[in-house]
Amino acid sequence: MQEFEITTEANALRDGQAGPVDVPGKRLALVRLEGKFYALENACPHRGGPLSVGYLDGCRLHCPLHGWGFDVTNGACDVRPDQPVATYPVEVRDGRVWVSFGEK
Ligand code: FES
Repeated sequence: MQEFEITTEANALRDGQAGPVDVPGKRLALVRLEGKFYALENACPHRGGPLSVGYLDGCRLHCPLHGWGFDVTNGACDVRPDQPVATYPVEVRDGRVWVSFGEK
């Protein structure tokens, strides 16, 4: 069974916005897009740029350092298909965003 950890209040992000959230031992880029939330690894696989302060273009989150784009739904990279970022399942319960890092 997947265990979820709380990250933030759902209203902390506007639609079309990305932001950083911290859970123990990890920083994520959390994205709110068309009413859904997506959680990605924060560090860009190119040179570690903080994706949480990148910019959104549709469903692509672009790294603020050199512009690589990542599909927020699956982590696929548009520049280097061999360099995706990890994505994590997200649920919203009672106005809070929960992210799963797998089974415990
Ligand atoms: S560090 Fe992200 S594109 Fe270079």
